[in-house]
Amino acid sequence: MGLADRFGRVATDLRVSLTDRCNLRCTYCMPEEGLDWLAKPELLTDDEIVRLVSVAVRLLGVHEIRFTGGEPLLRRGLVGIVGRTTELEPRPQVSLTTNGIGLARQAQALKDAGLDRVNVSLDTIRPDTFQQLTRRDRLQDVLAGLEAAQAVGLTPVKVNAVLMRGVNDDQAPELLEFCLEHDYELRFIEQMPLDAQHGWNRATMVTADEILDQLAEPFGLEPTDVATRGSAPAESFTVRGGPRTVGIIASVTRPFCGDCDRVRLTADGQVRDCLFARTESDLRTALRAGAGDEELADRWRRAMRGKLPGHGINDPSFLQPTRPMSAIGG
Ligand code: 5AD
Ligand code: SF4
Repeated sequence: MGLADRFGRVATDLRVSLTDRCNLRCTYCMPEEGLDWLAKPELLTDDEIVRLVSVAVRLLGVHEIRFTGGEPLLRRGLVGIVGRTTELEPRPQVSLTTNGIGLARQAQALKDAGLDRVNVSLDTIRPDTFQQLTRRDRLQDVLAGLEAAQAVGLTPVKVNAVLMRGVNDDQAPELLEFCLEHDYELRFIEQMPLDAQHGWNRATMVTADEILDQLAEPFGLEPTDVATRGSAPAESFTVRGGPRTVGIIASVTRPFCGDCDRVRLTADGQVRDCLFARTESDLRTALRAGAGDEELADRWRRAMRGKLPGHGINDPSFLQPTRPMSAIGG
């Protein structure tokens, strides 16, 4: 039996955070000074991660693994973890959600380890806006990372972008033009209340409708067939008659929680059934106490029973999760 919840949803897409650390300081994610990072003994070892991923794939029906962070390229054992994950049976799809810094150096090794795809976060192609948004001057590293991913065949290369009011909210067209030129698949994601410093504001956030308004005419956007969308959150549009597309993910204004097929594992071995969950289920303690695969699988199944029907961002009583995004994993 797989990872079913009480509302008929089954999680088959596992996101594994490999570290909560990051070399950027995106304003929608972290404060300037960073956060109190998890201490080494709390982090799962490479072997422990592979063990839990293996339980998910072999016993729980998970067929898609995404490694995230913080910044997963900062994890020393990454290539090894990816390699051991792609050797599992049945072989899962394996991708990486990264800010792209250092990807140029590691892309080939990751491809050789069997990595299928990458999602690179890129919110602007202007160096000054990049500096303002991420508080670091690393745009060139990200662009080099994207090119390397493309060159070694980690394709389709996907780009995630968040628009911030007064910072890059007027840059959707140039980002899309850039991605079309380079054959990257661009998806805009509405800013969610996940930042440690609680700067999110419903009234000023850039909505999916607003992004669509900016792009619809100049790019001749048409909705792609809804029937082929499946549970993918991207609302996808063809550009100028296709085949190229752009995604606009309305996580806040049009939540897709009813179709959610995701579950998350934090770098310290806690199962989170939702980005916005207020509780977690500890697998690390059982793992370190010598639990067998079946027991771990059982604990994981039980962890899904608390999954709520929706994130409730739009309810007056909404409370942000106590862990910030960087410690949960996108
Ligand atoms: N809202 C929306 N997206 C976010 N990301 C990080 N924080 C937020 C937020 N508050 C994005 C990153 C990355 C992915 C993992 O999630 O830019 O693309
Ligand atoms: Fe790092 Fe991603 Fe957070 Fe930016 S959003 S600070 S790249 S973890």
